[in-house]
Amino acid sequence: MVAESHLGGLGRHEKGLLEAFEEVFGSPGPGSESAAGRLPLITHAPGRVNLIGEHTDYNDGFVLPAAIDRHVSLASAPSHDGLFHLHSLDHGDTVVRSLDPPHRTGHWSDYVIAVAAALGEAGHTAPAMTAVLTGNVPQGGGLSSSAALEVCTALALCLHAGITMEGPALAALCQRAENEFVGVRCGIMDQFASALARAECALFLDCRDLSFEHVPFLSRDVVIAVIDSGVQRSLSDAGYNARRRECEQGVREIGRLLGEIESLRDVTPDQLASVAGSLPEPVASRCRHVVEENGRVLEAVGLLKACDFIGFGKLMIRSHESLRTQFEVSCPELDLLVEIACSLPGVLGSRMTGAGFGGCTVSLVEADHFEGFASAVRERYSSATGIDPAVYRLRPAAGALSLIDD
Ligand code: GLA
Repeated sequence: MVAESHLGGLGRHEKGLLEAFEEVFGSPGPGSESAAGRLPLITHAPGRVNLIGEHTDYNDGFVLPAAIDRHVSLASAPSHDGLFHLHSLDHGDTVVRSLDPPHRTGHWSDYVIAVAAALGEAGHTAPAMTAVLTGNVPQGGGLSSSAALEVCTALALCLHAGITMEGPALAALCQRAENEFVGVRCGIMDQFASALARAECALFLDCRDLSFEHVPFLSRDVVIAVIDSGVQRSLSDAGYNARRRECEQGVREIGRLLGEIESLRDVTPDQLASVAGSLPEPVASRCRHVVEENGRVLEAVGLLKACDFIGFGKLMIRSHESLRTQFEVSCPELDLLVEIACSLPGVLGSRMTGAGFGGCTVSLVEADHFEGFASAVRERYSSATGIDPAVYRLRPAAGALSLIDD
């Protein structure tokens, strides 16, 4: 079973993390209050891939992501000296940081400090930590390695401090950490999926009231293929924040024409059609994408429940087209990957996933065709771009909270 091998993988991983913790800090670590010999606590949080529902989360809309079986893992113990002693196995560096003040440095440790600061702002008292972390979520590839780091940090801090927090509140805290301390105005999808996804399911989330449903991804004959374009989306934050502003402008302008609305979630396709001619471009196109994408997510959920992967794939293609032409967050490399995928046998649908401007595509591929698909994509994409793309075959994995329950 996929779920078992995945947990088995984490088991091996844990041993390595504990050994590393001891090697770097000596057990139980500097300033730690743990009784001698007490093992540090281990938390894991997965990255995510979004199946459909892009740039809808910060418009109070619908999304359908799944967690992926790639994780950020943290071995941590509370420290007494009020300082964070953090070591990254992947970067090979150790930092000592203070929450006083929680300033931004551009270093990976910002995410840990951001979550600790957000927890403090929410009125909780959590101890600083000594921690070793590692991860296999590709970084900068749009699979939410930062959300995974935030979620496993939040979980560790809550467990150390005996804070009980519901999953949605924990996800919202991590989103706030990223918005306020890291400076990216992301929505809540990534953190929510990382915390609350369930193995073998997609997560249908209403980003307005945070109600959610686990929708089984039942087919063994269809796999989720993720391809990394190799185009880093690190320069994209400006573009991302600009899209948010355009959506906000849309809300204001539509509100003036139709009566006040809270977000694009409140606009039906017919209402939008009635005012679109009076909206400036590119605002009208941005709004059209969001309104139509919300409709696609609702349709996709129905198709997934009916195991209609052919219909689901068609929606993915329409979603990509809208992201390319109306929301304008794709790029030539992502378009090429989608074009190649859609020309191959056994491919039911393909689209860019995540914020865009680089990062990954997600495709639904018949399992029997996966190997042929992977090698054809590699060959055609690298001969066109000179980039050898990483191809992942993924199954929906468990979120951080279910990993704790296990
Ligand atoms: C990034 C953000 C998410 C979401 C997507 C686009 O991943 O972190 O909140 O807005 O982009 O759908």
